[in-house]
Amino acid sequence: MTVYLNTRFIKKSEATISIEDRGFIFGDGVYEVWRIVNGQLFEHARHLARLERGLRELRITPPAEATRDGLLAIAERLIEDNDLCEGEGTLYLEITRGVAPRTHHFPATAPAPTVFAFVNRFVPPEELRARGATATMLPDVRWLRCDIKTIQLLPNVMAKQQAQERGAVEAILIRDGVVTEGSHSNVMAVLDGELRTHEANNLILRGITRDVLLEIAQAEGIAVREEAILESDLGRVSELFVTGTTTDVTPIIRVDDRQIGTGTPGPIAKRLYALLRERMGAGARQAVSATG
Ligand code: PDD
Repeated sequence: MTVYLNTRFIKKSEATISIEDRGFIFGDGVYEVWRIVNGQLFEHARHLARLERGLRELRITPPAEATRDGLLAIAERLIEDNDLCEGEGTLYLEITRGVAPRTHHFPATAPAPTVFAFVNRFVPPEELRARGATATMLPDVRWLRCDIKTIQLLPNVMAKQQAQERGAVEAILIRDGVVTEGSHSNVMAVLDGELRTHEANNLILRGITRDVLLEIAQAEGIAVREEAILESDLGRVSELFVTGTTTDVTPIIRVDDRQIGTGTPGPIAKRLYALLRERMGAGARQAVSATG
Protein backbone atom coordinates (compact mmCIF):
# COMPACT_ATOMS: atom_id res chain seq x y z
CA MET A 1 0.00 0.00 0.00
CA THR A 2 1.32 3.42 -0.97
CA VAL A 3 0.63 6.33 1.37
CA TYR A 4 1.50 10.03 1.22
CA LEU A 5 3.57 11.65 3.95
CA ASN A 6 5.12 15.11 3.76
CA THR A 7 5.60 15.38 -0.02
CA ARG A 8 6.58 11.72 -0.49
CA PHE A 9 4.69 8.69 -1.78
CA ILE A 10 6.02 5.76 0.20
CA LYS A 11 5.11 2.27 1.37
CA LYS A 12 2.86 2.24 4.42
CA SER A 13 5.50 0.26 6.35
CA GLU A 14 8.03 3.04 5.71
CA ALA A 15 5.83 5.91 6.88
CA THR A 16 6.90 7.21 10.28
CA ILE A 17 6.28 10.44 12.17
CA SER A 18 8.21 12.14 14.94
CA ILE A 19 7.40 11.47 18.59
CA GLU A 20 7.25 15.27 18.89
CA ASP A 21 4.52 15.64 16.33
CA ARG A 22 1.84 17.79 17.91
CA GLY A 23 -0.80 15.54 16.42
CA PHE A 24 0.65 12.64 18.40
CA ILE A 25 1.23 14.67 21.58
CA PHE A 26 -1.88 16.89 21.68
CA GLY A 27 -4.25 15.75 18.94
CA ASP A 28 -3.38 19.15 17.46
CA GLY A 29 -4.66 18.75 13.92
CA VAL A 30 -7.55 18.22 11.56
CA TYR A 31 -8.61 15.51 9.15
CA GLU A 32 -11.00 14.84 6.30
CA VAL A 33 -12.52 11.73 4.76
CA TRP A 34 -13.70 11.74 1.14
CA ARG A 35 -15.65 9.04 -0.62
CA ILE A 36 -14.05 7.82 -3.84
CA VAL A 37 -16.34 6.44 -6.55
CA ASN A 38 -14.71 5.08 -9.68
CA GLY A 39 -11.64 7.23 -9.17
CA GLN A 40 -13.53 10.43 -8.40
CA LEU A 41 -13.67 12.31 -5.12
CA PHE A 42 -17.29 12.88 -4.16
CA GLU A 43 -18.05 16.49 -3.20
CA HIS A 44 -14.38 17.41 -3.32
CA ALA A 45 -14.90 21.17 -3.00
CA ARG A 46 -17.09 20.93 0.08
CA HIS A 47 -14.67 18.69 1.95
CA LEU A 48 -11.81 21.00 1.02
CA ALA A 49 -13.75 24.06 2.23
CA ARG A 50 -14.40 22.34 5.58
CA LEU A 51 -10.72 21.42 5.86
CA GLU A 52 -9.66 25.01 5.14
CA ARG A 53 -12.09 26.30 7.74
CA GLY A 54 -10.76 23.83 10.33
CA LEU A 55 -7.17 24.91 9.66
CA ARG A 56 -8.22 28.55 10.00
CA GLU A 57 -10.00 27.90 13.29
CA LEU A 58 -6.93 26.11 14.70
CA ARG A 59 -4.59 28.73 13.21
CA ILE A 60 -2.56 26.17 11.29
CA THR A 61 -1.06 27.68 8.12
CA PRO A 62 -2.56 25.73 5.21
CA PRO A 63 0.12 23.63 3.48
CA ALA A 64 0.25 23.35 -0.32
CA GLU A 65 -1.61 20.05 -0.08
CA ALA A 66 -4.70 21.80 1.27
CA THR A 67 -5.56 23.29 -2.10
CA ARG A 68 -7.77 21.97 -4.85
CA ASP A 69 -4.91 21.04 -7.17
CA GLY A 70 -2.55 19.91 -4.43
CA LEU A 71 -5.12 17.54 -3.11
CA LEU A 72 -6.23 16.23 -6.47
CA ALA A 73 -2.61 15.40 -7.37
CA ILE A 74 -2.22 13.37 -4.17
CA ALA A 75 -5.56 11.65 -4.61
CA GLU A 76 -4.82 10.75 -8.23
CA ARG A 77 -1.50 9.11 -7.40
CA LEU A 78 -2.85 7.24 -4.34
CA ILE A 79 -5.87 6.02 -6.28
CA GLU A 80 -3.70 4.75 -9.14
CA ASP A 81 -0.98 3.19 -7.01
CA ASN A 82 -3.52 1.44 -4.80
CA ASP A 83 -5.69 0.17 -7.61
CA LEU A 84 -8.80 2.16 -6.77
CA CYS A 85 -9.70 3.52 -10.21
CA GLU A 86 -12.73 1.23 -10.22
CA GLY A 87 -15.21 0.69 -7.44
CA GLU A 88 -15.43 2.57 -4.18
CA GLY A 89 -13.02 3.74 -1.55
CA THR A 90 -12.16 6.48 0.90
CA LEU A 91 -9.39 9.06 1.04
CA TYR A 92 -8.18 10.06 4.52
CA LEU A 93 -6.14 13.25 4.91
CA GLU A 94 -4.64 14.48 8.16
CA ILE A 95 -2.82 17.74 8.81
CA THR A 96 -1.20 18.45 12.16
CA ARG A 97 0.52 21.59 13.42
CA GLY A 98 3.84 19.80 12.93
CA VAL A 99 6.85 18.82 15.01
CA ALA A 100 8.12 20.89 17.95
CA PRO A 101 9.30 20.38 21.55
CA ARG A 102 6.29 19.86 23.80
CA THR A 103 4.69 23.07 25.03
CA HIS A 104 0.96 23.61 25.18
CA HIS A 105 1.15 26.95 23.42
CA PHE A 106 2.07 27.08 19.74
CA PRO A 107 5.81 26.97 18.94
CA ALA A 108 7.25 30.50 18.53
CA THR A 109 8.20 29.70 14.95
CA ALA A 110 5.49 27.73 13.19
CA PRO A 111 6.81 24.31 12.10
CA ALA A 112 5.86 22.88 8.71
CA PRO A 113 2.55 21.05 9.18
CA THR A 114 2.66 17.26 8.96
CA VAL A 115 0.54 16.05 6.06
CA PHE A 116 -0.48 12.42 5.79
CA ALA A 117 -2.93 10.74 3.41
CA PHE A 118 -4.00 7.25 2.47
CA VAL A 119 -6.76 5.55 0.52
CA ASN A 120 -8.70 2.41 1.33
CA ARG A 121 -11.18 0.31 -0.55
CA PHE A 122 -14.70 0.71 0.81
CA VAL A 123 -17.56 -1.63 0.08
CA PRO A 124 -20.82 -0.14 1.34
CA PRO A 125 -22.73 -2.68 3.45
CA GLU A 126 -25.81 -2.63 1.22
CA GLU A 127 -27.52 -5.31 3.23
CA LEU A 128 -27.32 -3.25 6.44
CA ARG A 129 -28.57 -0.16 4.63
CA ALA A 130 -31.54 -2.17 3.34
CA ARG A 131 -32.34 -4.02 6.57
CA GLY A 132 -31.81 -1.11 8.96
CA ALA A 133 -29.63 -0.95 12.05
CA THR A 134 -29.84 -0.45 15.77
CA ALA A 135 -28.39 2.45 17.73
CA THR A 136 -27.82 3.20 21.38
CA MET A 137 -28.19 6.51 23.22
CA LEU A 138 -25.25 7.97 25.09
CA PRO A 139 -24.48 11.35 26.66
CA ASP A 140 -22.55 13.76 24.43
CA VAL A 141 -19.51 14.55 26.55
CA ARG A 142 -17.49 16.31 23.85
CA TRP A 143 -16.11 19.85 23.87
CA LEU A 144 -18.06 22.79 22.47
CA ARG A 145 -16.27 23.00 19.11
CA CYS A 146 -17.64 19.87 17.48
CA ASP A 147 -17.87 21.90 14.26
CA ILE A 148 -14.12 21.50 13.75
CA LYS A 149 -13.09 18.10 12.37
CA THR A 150 -10.16 17.64 14.71
CA ILE A 151 -8.24 14.40 15.15
CA GLN A 152 -9.10 14.45 18.86
CA LEU A 153 -11.76 11.78 18.69
CA LEU A 154 -11.57 10.08 22.07
CA PRO A 155 -15.17 10.77 23.15
CA ASN A 156 -16.30 9.55 19.72
CA VAL A 157 -14.11 6.45 20.02
CA MET A 158 -15.44 5.65 23.51
CA ALA A 159 -19.04 6.14 22.36
CA LYS A 160 -18.63 3.94 19.29
CA GLN A 161 -16.95 1.25 21.37
CA GLN A 162 -19.81 1.29 23.84
CA ALA A 163 -22.29 1.07 20.98
CA GLN A 164 -20.43 -1.91 19.59
CA GLU A 165 -20.43 -3.62 22.99
CA ARG A 166 -24.21 -3.14 23.08
CA GLY A 167 -24.58 -4.67 19.61
CA ALA A 168 -25.46 -1.31 18.03
CA VAL A 169 -23.93 0.19 14.89
CA GLU A 170 -23.94 3.77 16.11
CA ALA A 171 -24.16 5.84 19.29
CA ILE A 172 -26.73 8.63 19.19
CA LEU A 173 -25.42 11.43 21.35
CA ILE A 174 -27.64 13.48 23.66
CA ARG A 175 -26.70 16.87 25.09
CA ASP A 176 -29.16 18.80 27.30
CA GLY A 177 -32.08 16.65 26.17
CA VAL A 178 -31.46 17.04 22.43
CA VAL A 179 -30.04 14.69 19.81
CA THR A 180 -26.82 16.24 18.54
CA GLU A 181 -25.30 13.64 16.19
CA GLY A 182 -23.73 10.19 16.06
CA SER A 183 -20.20 9.19 17.05
CA HIS A 184 -19.16 9.43 13.39
CA SER A 185 -22.34 10.47 11.61
CA ASN A 186 -25.15 13.02 11.62
CA VAL A 187 -28.64 12.09 12.76
CA MET A 188 -31.84 12.83 10.84
CA ALA A 189 -35.44 12.08 11.74
CA VAL A 190 -38.85 12.41 10.19
CA LEU A 191 -41.21 14.04 12.66
CA ASP A 192 -44.70 15.28 11.84
CA GLY A 193 -43.88 14.86 8.15
CA GLU A 194 -40.77 17.05 8.31
CA LEU A 195 -37.17 16.01 7.84
CA ARG A 196 -35.37 17.21 10.96
CA THR A 197 -31.70 17.45 11.85
CA HIS A 198 -29.63 19.49 14.30
CA GLU A 199 -28.80 22.97 13.08
CA ALA A 200 -25.23 23.44 11.85
CA ASN A 201 -23.70 25.10 14.89
CA ASN A 202 -20.79 24.39 17.25
CA LEU A 203 -22.46 21.30 18.72
CA ILE A 204 -22.19 19.13 15.60
CA LEU A 205 -19.90 18.47 12.69
CA ARG A 206 -21.65 19.89 9.65
CA GLY A 207 -21.57 16.74 7.55
CA ILE A 208 -21.09 17.00 3.81
CA THR A 209 -23.52 14.10 3.41
CA ARG A 210 -25.99 15.96 5.65
CA ASP A 211 -25.83 19.05 3.46
CA VAL A 212 -26.13 17.06 0.22
CA LEU A 213 -29.13 15.15 1.61
CA LEU A 214 -30.86 18.35 2.74
CA GLU A 215 -30.41 19.70 -0.79
CA ILE A 216 -31.77 16.51 -2.32
CA ALA A 217 -34.71 16.48 0.09
CA GLN A 218 -35.62 20.06 -0.73
CA ALA A 219 -35.43 19.35 -4.45
CA GLU A 220 -37.78 16.41 -3.85
CA GLY A 221 -40.30 18.63 -2.12
CA ILE A 222 -39.69 17.13 1.33
CA ALA A 223 -40.13 19.69 4.13
CA VAL A 224 -36.81 20.25 5.90
CA ARG A 225 -36.24 21.80 9.28
CA GLU A 226 -32.77 22.31 10.78
CA GLU A 227 -33.80 22.11 14.39
CA ALA A 228 -32.67 19.55 16.93
CA ILE A 229 -34.82 16.53 17.67
CA LEU A 230 -35.58 16.25 21.37
CA GLU A 231 -34.66 13.06 23.15
CA SER A 232 -38.27 13.00 24.34
CA ASP A 233 -39.48 13.07 20.69
CA LEU A 234 -37.66 9.88 19.73
CA GLY A 235 -40.75 7.86 20.58
CA ARG A 236 -42.78 9.87 18.05
CA VAL A 237 -40.48 9.94 15.03
CA SER A 238 -41.65 7.93 12.05
CA GLU A 239 -38.10 7.53 10.69
CA LEU A 240 -34.61 7.89 12.05
CA PHE A 241 -31.37 7.56 10.12
CA VAL A 242 -27.69 8.36 10.36
CA THR A 243 -25.70 9.91 7.53
CA GLY A 244 -22.04 10.32 6.62
CA THR A 245 -19.28 9.66 4.13
CA THR A 246 -18.97 6.02 5.17
CA THR A 247 -22.52 5.76 6.54
CA ASP A 248 -24.45 7.04 3.48
CA VAL A 249 -28.03 6.87 4.73
CA THR A 250 -28.35 4.10 7.30
CA PRO A 251 -31.88 3.66 8.67
CA ILE A 252 -32.09 3.17 12.44
CA ILE A 253 -34.96 0.86 13.23
CA ARG A 254 -34.33 0.51 16.96
CA VAL A 255 -32.72 2.69 19.63
CA ASP A 256 -31.85 0.55 22.62
CA ASP A 257 -35.14 -1.20 23.47
CA ARG A 258 -37.36 1.22 21.56
CA GLN A 259 -38.62 0.44 18.08
CA ILE A 260 -38.53 3.37 15.67
CA GLY A 261 -41.54 3.84 13.40
CA THR A 262 -42.61 0.54 11.91
CA GLY A 263 -39.31 -1.13 12.81
CA THR A 264 -38.27 -1.21 9.15
CA PRO A 265 -36.44 1.35 6.96
CA GLY A 266 -38.84 4.16 6.09
CA PRO A 267 -39.72 5.56 2.66
CA ILE A 268 -37.84 8.85 3.04
CA ALA A 269 -34.62 7.14 4.12
CA LYS A 270 -34.88 4.73 1.20
CA ARG A 271 -35.56 7.50 -1.28
CA LEU A 272 -32.73 9.69 -0.01
CA TYR A 273 -30.33 6.76 -0.09
CA ALA A 274 -31.23 5.94 -3.69
CA LEU A 275 -30.84 9.57 -4.74
CA LEU A 276 -27.55 9.92 -2.88
CA ARG A 277 -26.17 6.82 -4.64
CA GLU A 278 -27.30 8.23 -7.94
CA ARG A 279 -25.55 11.49 -7.26
CA MET A 280 -22.36 9.70 -6.22
CA GLY A 281 -22.24 7.63 -9.35
CA ALA A 282 -23.09 10.44 -11.74
CA GLY A 283 -20.44 11.13 -14.34
CA ALA A 284 -17.96 8.71 -12.80
CA ARG A 285 -15.44 6.46 -14.58
CA GLN A 286 -12.88 9.07 -15.55
CA ALA A 287 -9.60 10.00 -14.02
CA VAL A 288 -9.71 11.94 -10.77
CA SER A 289 -11.66 15.14 -10.99
CA ALA A 290 -13.82 17.11 -8.65
CA THR A 291 -17.55 16.62 -8.52
CA GLY A 292 -18.20 19.38 -6.05
N1 PDD B 1 -16.91 11.06 10.10
N2 PDD B 1 -20.38 13.83 12.57
C1 PDD B 1 -19.22 13.29 12.98
C2 PDD B 1 -18.85 13.38 14.42
C3 PDD B 1 -18.38 12.64 12.05
O1 PDD B 1 -17.22 12.11 12.46
C4 PDD B 1 -18.79 12.53 10.69
C5 PDD B 1 -17.95 11.86 9.65
C6 PDD B 1 -20.02 13.11 10.33
C7 PDD B 1 -20.52 13.08 8.90
O2 PDD B 1 -19.79 13.95 8.10
P1 PDD B 1 -19.61 13.69 6.54
O3 PDD B 1 -20.96 13.51 5.96
O4 PDD B 1 -18.93 14.91 6.04
O5 PDD B 1 -18.77 12.44 6.39
C8 PDD B 1 -20.78 13.76 11.28
C9 PDD B 1 -15.91 10.51 9.20
C10 PDD B 1 -16.46 9.78 8.04
C11 PDD B 1 -14.91 9.70 10.00
O6 PDD B 1 -14.56 10.16 11.08
O7 PDD B 1 -14.45 8.64 9.56
